[in-house]
Amino acid sequence: MTYPKTVRIVEVGPRDGLQNEPGIVATEVKIELINRLTHAGLQTIESGSFVSPKWVPQMADTAEVLSHIQRKPGVQYPVLVPNIKGLHAALESGVEEVAVFASASEAFSQRNINCTIDESLARFQPVIAASRERGVKVRGYVSCVLGCPYQGDVPAEKVADVAKRLFDMGCYEISLGDTIGAGTPAAAFAMTKHVLGFVPVNQIALHFHDTYGQALANIYACLGLGISVLDSSVGGLGGCPYAVGASGNVASEDLVYMLHGMGIDTGVDLGQLVEAARFISQAIGREPSSHLSKAWRQGN
Ligand code: HMG
Ligand code: MG
Repeated sequence: MTYPKTVRIVEVGPRDGLQNEPGIVATEVKIELINRLTHAGLQTIESGSFVSPKWVPQMADTAEVLSHIQRKPGVQYPVLVPNIKGLHAALESGVEEVAVFASASEAFSQRNINCTIDESLARFQPVIAASRERGVKVRGYVSCVLGCPYQGDVPAEKVADVAKRLFDMGCYEISLGDTIGAGTPAAAFAMTKHVLGFVPVNQIALHFHDTYGQALANIYACLGLGISVLDSSVGGLGGCPYAVGASGNVASEDLVYMLHGMGIDTGVDLGQLVEAARFISQAIGREPSSHLSKAWRQGN
């Protein structure tokens, strides 16, 4: 197995983590979280989404969040956009990167964005074109790559088909989402290997939720394929409001600990990341779900 020497972490906590919170998280708390993540050395911090506030009220303050964060040169603060309306709002906020989100499951596509997979891709076409015209990078998500909460099994062929279509439409990176965290290492490896037949390895990211406690093992299984971009969420926060029962992403601090232990550089200061996890967990009134935030002592 050849492991990458460096991995870029895409920190999705402020978006994936907080979109599912039952209570309102104060805008100042989101801003403070993103500033702490910037300080911890993350290079990409997904900072919100311009979706319908009727569908996801938790993200309704994204424009305000973006206008108050302390941006560090070289750090990306992307947001999700489901359609051209979302893109226009994102552009007004001065974003340099957006993400569109499709699914490999028809049932999930309907529940999450109220249209078929084909309709979603047709909707993304002008979003991607308008973004690229303005020099804004577009990432493409594929959800339900290892199972769907509504239709069950999702074939790897369907995942590869949607991934390739997003890639061919101009997405610079395709993030493969195990939305419900149902995958196990052999399945994650087989699915990822199949997709690599259609999209280059340096343009694939893995976005694994940890519902069944398998996310780190799944990532470890796939790292040997040469994957070098991994999505994770500070404190293990998260879930999708339209994927019932799904819990958070793999915790960023647990992921960074594993990668550093393997000699893989992330550029992230683990101590500061753990502090950010403790900060957000305290702010939303719950115990952090990561191992590191419980185990970490200064000087470790
Ligand atoms: P719709 O109801 O079919 O849309 O929703 P519509 O075009 O008929 O519009 C309905 C209303 O929403 C209208 O307002 C629009 O203006 C408004 P009204 O006239 O009723 O007052 N609207 C918007 N408002 C603000 N920003 C917008 C926007 N678009 C329409 N961009 C829609 C379709 C896609 C909008 C809706 O389904 C939606 O917003 N879905 C988002 C769901 C979501 O955010 N899910 C979580 C993120 S995905 C995820 O977590 C998975 C991921 O992490 C990867 C993984 O884990 O697998 C990425
Ligand atoms: Mg997700």
